[in-house]
Amino acid sequence: MKIILTGIQPSGALHLGNYFGAMLPALQMQELGQAVYFIADYHALTSVSDAAALRRHTFDAAAAFLSCGLDPQKTILFRQSDVPQVHELAWLLSVVTPMGLLERATSYKDKVAQGAETTHGLFAYPVLMAADILLYGSDLVPVGKDQKQHLEMARDIAQKFNDRFGPVFKLPEPAIREATAVVPGTDGRKMSKSYGNTIPLFGEEKAIKKAVMAITTDSTPLEQPKQLEGTTLGQLMHAVNPDGYKDYLAYGATPGVGYGDLKKKLLGEITSRFAEYQAKYRHYQMNPDEVEAVLCDGAIRARALALPIVDKARHATGLG
Ligand code: TRP
Repeated sequence: MKIILTGIQPSGALHLGNYFGAMLPALQMQELGQAVYFIADYHALTSVSDAAALRRHTFDAAAAFLSCGLDPQKTILFRQSDVPQVHELAWLLSVVTPMGLLERATSYKDKVAQGAETTHGLFAYPVLMAADILLYGSDLVPVGKDQKQHLEMARDIAQKFNDRFGPVFKLPEPAIREATAVVPGTDGRKMSKSYGNTIPLFGEEKAIKKAVMAITTDSTPLEQPKQLEGTTLGQLMHAVNPDGYKDYLAYGATPGVGYGDLKKKLLGEITSRFAEYQAKYRHYQMNPDEVEAVLCDGAIRARALALPIVDKARHATGLG
Protein backbone atom coordinates (compact mmCIF):
# COMPACT_ATOMS: atom_id res chain seq x y z
CA MET A 1 0.00 0.00 0.00
CA LYS A 2 1.47 3.32 -1.03
CA ILE A 3 2.01 5.93 1.67
CA ILE A 4 0.72 9.32 0.54
CA LEU A 5 2.01 12.05 2.79
CA THR A 6 1.51 15.76 2.94
CA GLY A 7 1.66 18.55 5.49
CA ILE A 8 -0.32 21.75 5.74
CA GLN A 9 0.93 24.77 7.63
CA PRO A 10 -1.51 26.18 10.16
CA SER A 11 -0.65 29.77 9.48
CA GLY A 12 -4.03 31.47 9.31
CA ALA A 13 -7.74 31.23 8.63
CA LEU A 14 -8.36 28.83 5.75
CA HIS A 15 -9.74 30.19 2.50
CA LEU A 16 -11.06 28.92 -0.82
CA GLY A 17 -7.53 28.98 -2.26
CA ASN A 18 -6.39 26.51 0.42
CA TYR A 19 -9.44 24.36 -0.19
CA PHE A 20 -9.13 24.04 -3.97
CA GLY A 21 -5.35 24.22 -4.08
CA ALA A 22 -4.36 21.81 -1.32
CA MET A 23 -7.19 20.32 0.72
CA LEU A 24 -9.44 19.00 -2.05
CA PRO A 25 -6.60 17.26 -3.93
CA ALA A 26 -5.40 15.72 -0.66
CA LEU A 27 -8.92 14.56 0.20
CA GLN A 28 -9.32 12.99 -3.23
CA MET A 29 -6.03 11.11 -2.83
CA GLN A 30 -7.23 9.36 0.33
CA GLU A 31 -8.50 6.56 -1.90
CA LEU A 32 -5.14 5.84 -3.50
CA GLY A 33 -3.31 4.33 -0.57
CA GLN A 34 -2.56 5.01 3.10
CA ALA A 35 -2.86 8.77 3.41
CA VAL A 36 -0.78 10.37 6.17
CA TYR A 37 -1.68 14.03 6.62
CA PHE A 38 -0.36 16.31 9.29
CA ILE A 39 -0.66 19.85 10.50
CA ALA A 40 2.86 21.27 10.28
CA ASP A 41 2.94 23.22 13.52
CA TYR A 42 6.72 23.01 13.93
CA HIS A 43 7.11 24.57 10.51
CA ALA A 44 4.57 27.26 11.31
CA LEU A 45 6.75 28.33 14.23
CA THR A 46 9.16 29.82 11.71
CA SER A 47 6.57 32.53 11.08
CA VAL A 48 3.98 32.53 13.91
CA SER A 49 4.99 33.88 17.29
CA ASP A 50 1.65 33.94 19.10
CA ALA A 51 1.14 30.71 21.05
CA ALA A 52 -2.65 31.04 21.25
CA ALA A 53 -2.87 31.72 17.53
CA LEU A 54 -0.71 28.70 16.66
CA ARG A 55 -2.83 26.44 18.87
CA ARG A 56 -6.05 27.77 17.38
CA HIS A 57 -4.90 27.53 13.79
CA THR A 58 -3.61 24.00 14.33
CA PHE A 59 -6.94 22.92 15.76
CA ASP A 60 -8.85 24.75 13.04
CA ALA A 61 -6.87 23.09 10.27
CA ALA A 62 -7.62 19.64 11.72
CA ALA A 63 -11.31 20.54 12.15
CA ALA A 64 -11.36 21.82 8.57
CA PHE A 65 -10.01 18.57 7.15
CA LEU A 66 -12.51 16.54 9.14
CA SER A 67 -15.38 18.81 8.09
CA CYS A 68 -14.49 18.62 4.41
CA GLY A 69 -14.47 14.84 4.21
CA LEU A 70 -11.26 13.44 5.65
CA ASP A 71 -12.04 9.90 6.80
CA PRO A 72 -10.23 9.43 10.12
CA GLN A 73 -10.85 5.67 10.08
CA LYS A 74 -8.73 5.36 7.01
CA THR A 75 -6.49 8.41 6.83
CA ILE A 76 -3.93 9.19 9.52
CA LEU A 77 -4.41 12.81 10.60
CA PHE A 78 -2.03 14.16 13.20
CA ARG A 79 -0.17 17.14 14.59
CA GLN A 80 3.46 17.21 13.47
CA SER A 81 4.63 18.08 17.00
CA ASP A 82 2.97 14.97 18.43
CA VAL A 83 5.77 12.93 16.86
CA PRO A 84 8.89 14.76 18.08
CA GLN A 85 11.10 11.96 16.70
CA VAL A 86 11.02 13.99 13.51
CA HIS A 87 13.69 16.20 15.10
CA GLU A 88 15.98 13.31 15.74
CA LEU A 89 15.71 12.38 12.11
CA ALA A 90 16.15 16.03 11.09
CA TRP A 91 19.49 16.03 12.89
CA LEU A 92 20.62 12.83 11.23
CA LEU A 93 19.75 14.45 7.92
CA SER A 94 21.39 17.75 8.84
CA VAL A 95 24.78 16.14 9.07
CA VAL A 96 24.58 15.05 5.42
CA THR A 97 22.92 18.20 4.07
CA PRO A 98 25.35 20.50 2.25
CA MET A 99 25.13 24.17 3.20
CA GLY A 100 25.06 25.03 -0.48
CA LEU A 101 21.87 23.03 -0.97
CA LEU A 102 20.07 25.06 1.68
CA GLU A 103 21.55 28.33 0.44
CA ARG A 104 19.95 27.70 -2.93
CA ALA A 105 16.44 27.31 -1.48
CA THR A 106 14.32 29.91 -3.23
CA SER A 107 11.69 30.08 -0.49
CA TYR A 108 14.42 30.99 1.98
CA LYS A 109 15.95 33.54 -0.39
CA ASP A 110 12.50 35.06 -1.02
CA LYS A 111 11.83 35.43 2.69
CA VAL A 112 15.20 37.06 3.19
CA ALA A 113 14.51 39.40 0.26
CA GLN A 114 11.19 40.33 1.86
CA GLY A 115 13.13 41.38 4.93
CA ALA A 116 12.20 38.48 7.23
CA GLU A 117 14.49 37.90 10.17
CA THR A 118 16.83 35.15 9.11
CA THR A 119 16.74 32.45 11.73
CA HIS A 120 18.34 29.08 11.73
CA GLY A 121 14.82 27.59 11.76
CA LEU A 122 13.96 29.29 8.50
CA PHE A 123 17.22 28.15 6.98
CA ALA A 124 16.80 24.56 8.18
CA TYR A 125 13.12 24.41 7.19
CA PRO A 126 13.80 22.12 4.19
CA VAL A 127 15.69 19.64 6.39
CA LEU A 128 12.73 19.34 8.74
CA MET A 129 10.48 18.90 5.75
CA ALA A 130 12.76 16.16 4.41
CA ALA A 131 12.54 14.50 7.82
CA ASP A 132 8.70 14.64 7.66
CA ILE A 133 8.76 12.96 4.31
CA LEU A 134 11.31 10.27 5.14
CA LEU A 135 10.11 9.49 8.67
CA TYR A 136 6.89 7.89 7.47
CA GLY A 137 8.28 6.03 4.47
CA SER A 138 6.36 8.18 2.00
CA ASP A 139 5.90 6.97 -1.55
CA LEU A 140 3.96 9.91 -2.88
CA VAL A 141 4.08 13.51 -1.71
CA PRO A 142 1.36 15.70 -3.21
CA VAL A 143 2.26 19.37 -2.96
CA GLY A 144 1.74 22.60 -4.84
CA LYS A 145 4.27 23.97 -7.30
CA ASP A 146 5.77 26.26 -4.67
CA GLN A 147 7.00 23.19 -2.74
CA LYS A 148 8.64 21.50 -5.70
CA GLN A 149 12.15 22.55 -4.76
CA HIS A 150 11.67 21.44 -1.16
CA LEU A 151 10.68 18.03 -2.43
CA GLU A 152 13.71 17.78 -4.67
CA MET A 153 15.84 18.72 -1.69
CA ALA A 154 14.24 15.95 0.35
CA ARG A 155 15.20 13.45 -2.35
CA ASP A 156 18.75 14.82 -2.54
CA ILE A 157 19.14 14.64 1.22
CA ALA A 158 17.80 11.07 1.33
CA GLN A 159 20.23 10.08 -1.40
CA LYS A 160 23.16 11.67 0.44
CA PHE A 161 22.21 9.80 3.60
CA ASN A 162 21.91 6.50 1.75
CA ASP A 163 25.25 7.06 0.01
CA ARG A 164 26.97 7.68 3.29
CA PHE A 165 25.22 5.25 5.65
CA GLY A 166 23.57 2.63 3.46
CA PRO A 167 20.13 2.19 1.92
CA VAL A 168 17.85 3.37 4.71
CA PHE A 169 15.40 5.64 2.90
CA LYS A 170 13.27 5.11 -0.14
CA LEU A 171 13.12 8.16 -2.36
CA PRO A 172 9.61 9.59 -2.52
CA GLU A 173 7.98 10.40 -5.83
CA PRO A 174 6.94 14.00 -6.21
CA ALA A 175 3.30 14.57 -7.15
CA ILE A 176 3.47 18.22 -8.08
CA ARG A 177 0.23 19.94 -8.86
CA GLU A 178 0.87 22.24 -11.75
CA ALA A 179 -1.27 25.33 -12.18
CA THR A 180 -4.47 23.22 -12.36
CA ALA A 181 -6.22 24.79 -9.45
CA VAL A 182 -4.97 28.29 -9.02
CA VAL A 183 -7.88 30.08 -7.48
CA PRO A 184 -7.82 33.83 -7.93
CA GLY A 185 -8.40 36.08 -4.98
CA THR A 186 -10.83 38.99 -4.93
CA ASP A 187 -8.29 41.25 -6.68
CA GLY A 188 -7.48 38.73 -9.42
CA ARG A 189 -4.06 37.74 -8.09
CA LYS A 190 -3.51 34.26 -6.65
CA MET A 191 -5.64 33.90 -3.51
CA SER A 192 -3.26 34.28 -0.61
CA LYS A 193 -3.38 35.47 2.95
CA SER A 194 -0.39 37.70 2.31
CA TYR A 195 -2.28 39.60 -0.41
CA GLY A 196 -5.35 40.13 1.76
CA ASN A 197 -7.57 38.95 -1.10
CA THR A 198 -9.07 35.80 0.38
CA ILE A 199 -12.59 34.44 0.56
CA PRO A 200 -12.83 32.60 3.88
CA LEU A 201 -13.88 28.96 3.89
CA PHE A 202 -15.46 28.94 7.33
CA GLY A 203 -16.00 32.61 8.01
CA GLU A 204 -19.21 34.25 9.16
CA GLU A 205 -21.72 34.60 6.35
CA LYS A 206 -21.19 38.36 6.50
CA ALA A 207 -17.44 38.06 6.00
CA ILE A 208 -17.85 35.72 3.04
CA LYS A 209 -20.40 38.08 1.50
CA LYS A 210 -18.16 41.06 2.03
CA ALA A 211 -15.24 39.34 0.30
CA VAL A 212 -17.37 38.20 -2.66
CA MET A 213 -18.90 41.64 -3.10
CA ALA A 214 -15.38 43.12 -3.16
CA ILE A 215 -14.28 41.06 -6.17
CA THR A 216 -12.82 43.45 -8.73
CA THR A 217 -14.63 43.67 -12.06
CA ASP A 218 -14.34 45.92 -15.08
CA SER A 219 -16.65 48.81 -15.85
CA THR A 220 -18.87 47.22 -18.51
CA PRO A 221 -22.17 49.13 -18.27
CA LEU A 222 -25.18 47.29 -16.84
CA GLU A 223 -27.05 47.05 -20.12
CA GLN A 224 -24.11 45.46 -21.95
CA PRO A 225 -23.29 41.72 -21.83
CA LYS A 226 -20.44 40.75 -19.49
CA GLN A 227 -17.65 38.60 -20.79
CA LEU A 228 -16.92 36.35 -17.80
CA GLU A 229 -14.58 33.80 -19.32
CA GLY A 230 -11.13 34.15 -17.76
CA THR A 231 -12.23 36.84 -15.32
CA THR A 232 -11.92 36.51 -11.56
CA LEU A 233 -15.67 35.93 -11.21
CA GLY A 234 -15.63 33.34 -13.99
CA GLN A 235 -12.66 31.43 -12.58
CA LEU A 236 -14.12 31.38 -9.10
CA MET A 237 -17.44 30.10 -10.40
CA HIS A 238 -15.60 27.45 -12.39
CA ALA A 239 -13.85 26.26 -9.23
CA VAL A 240 -16.94 26.34 -7.02
CA ASN A 241 -19.46 24.84 -9.44
CA PRO A 242 -17.96 23.55 -12.69
CA ASP A 243 -21.34 22.13 -13.78
CA GLY A 244 -22.99 25.51 -13.48
CA TYR A 245 -20.21 27.37 -15.25
CA LYS A 246 -21.75 27.48 -18.75
CA ASP A 247 -25.05 28.77 -17.41
CA TYR A 248 -23.17 31.38 -15.46
CA LEU A 249 -21.42 32.63 -18.58
CA ALA A 250 -24.79 32.82 -20.33
CA TYR A 251 -26.32 34.63 -17.38
CA GLY A 252 -23.46 37.13 -17.48
CA ALA A 253 -24.03 37.72 -21.19
CA THR A 254 -27.65 38.70 -20.52
CA PRO A 255 -28.06 42.45 -20.96
CA GLY A 256 -29.29 44.07 -17.80
CA VAL A 257 -27.55 41.55 -15.52
CA GLY A 258 -24.97 43.48 -13.53
CA TYR A 259 -21.86 42.48 -11.63
CA GLY A 260 -23.83 42.80 -8.39
CA ASP A 261 -26.19 40.06 -9.62
CA LEU A 262 -23.29 37.92 -10.75
CA LYS A 263 -21.58 38.23 -7.39
CA LYS A 264 -24.79 37.28 -5.60
CA LYS A 265 -25.08 34.23 -7.79
CA LEU A 266 -21.49 33.23 -6.99
CA LEU A 267 -22.14 33.82 -3.30
CA GLY A 268 -25.17 31.52 -3.50
CA GLU A 269 -23.04 28.80 -5.11
CA ILE A 270 -20.36 29.15 -2.44
CA THR A 271 -23.00 28.93 0.27
CA SER A 272 -24.59 25.82 -1.14
CA ARG A 273 -21.33 24.06 -1.89
CA PHE A 274 -19.88 24.62 1.57
CA ALA A 275 -22.98 24.74 3.83
CA GLU A 276 -22.60 21.14 4.98
CA TYR A 277 -18.88 21.55 5.67
CA GLN A 278 -19.55 24.75 7.57
CA ALA A 279 -22.15 23.02 9.74
CA LYS A 280 -19.68 20.23 10.53
CA TYR A 281 -16.99 22.78 11.26
CA ARG A 282 -19.26 24.53 13.76
CA HIS A 283 -19.96 21.15 15.32
CA TYR A 284 -16.24 20.50 15.80
CA GLN A 285 -15.70 23.96 17.20
CA MET A 286 -18.33 23.17 19.84
CA ASN A 287 -16.93 19.68 20.42
CA PRO A 288 -13.15 20.07 20.34
CA ASP A 289 -12.67 16.74 22.14
CA GLU A 290 -13.78 14.91 19.03
CA VAL A 291 -11.00 16.57 17.03
CA GLU A 292 -8.48 15.90 19.80
CA ALA A 293 -9.45 12.24 19.84
CA VAL A 294 -8.79 11.96 16.10
CA LEU A 295 -5.43 13.72 16.45
CA CYS A 296 -4.41 11.47 19.36
CA ASP A 297 -5.29 8.35 17.44
CA GLY A 298 -3.50 9.76 14.40
CA ALA A 299 -0.35 10.41 16.45
CA ILE A 300 -0.33 6.83 17.73
CA ARG A 301 -0.64 5.45 14.21
CA ALA A 302 1.95 7.91 12.87
CA ARG A 303 4.41 6.95 15.60
CA ALA A 304 3.99 3.30 14.71
CA LEU A 305 5.16 4.10 11.18
CA ALA A 306 7.95 6.40 12.35
CA LEU A 307 9.66 4.46 15.12
CA PRO A 308 11.08 1.58 13.05
CA ILE A 309 12.38 4.04 10.47
CA VAL A 310 14.06 6.31 12.98
CA ASP A 311 15.60 3.23 14.62
CA LYS A 312 16.94 2.03 11.33
CA ALA A 313 18.45 5.46 10.61
CA ARG A 314 19.99 5.64 14.10
CA HIS A 315 21.48 2.22 13.73
CA ALA A 316 22.89 2.98 10.28
CA THR A 317 24.75 5.99 11.67
CA GLY A 318 26.19 4.16 14.66
CA LEU A 319 23.82 5.54 17.26
CA GLY A 320 22.27 2.60 19.03
N1 TRP B 1 6.20 23.29 3.54
C1 TRP B 1 4.86 22.84 3.25
C2 TRP B 1 4.00 24.05 2.87
O1 TRP B 1 4.26 25.14 3.33
C3 TRP B 1 4.24 22.15 4.44
C4 TRP B 1 4.97 20.89 4.76
C5 TRP B 1 5.74 20.66 5.86
C6 TRP B 1 4.99 19.70 3.98
N2 TRP B 1 6.23 19.40 5.83
C7 TRP B 1 5.80 18.78 4.69
C8 TRP B 1 4.40 19.34 2.77
C9 TRP B 1 6.05 17.49 4.19
C10 TRP B 1 4.66 18.05 2.26
C11 TRP B 1 5.48 17.15 2.97
O2 TRP B 1 3.05 23.89 2.15
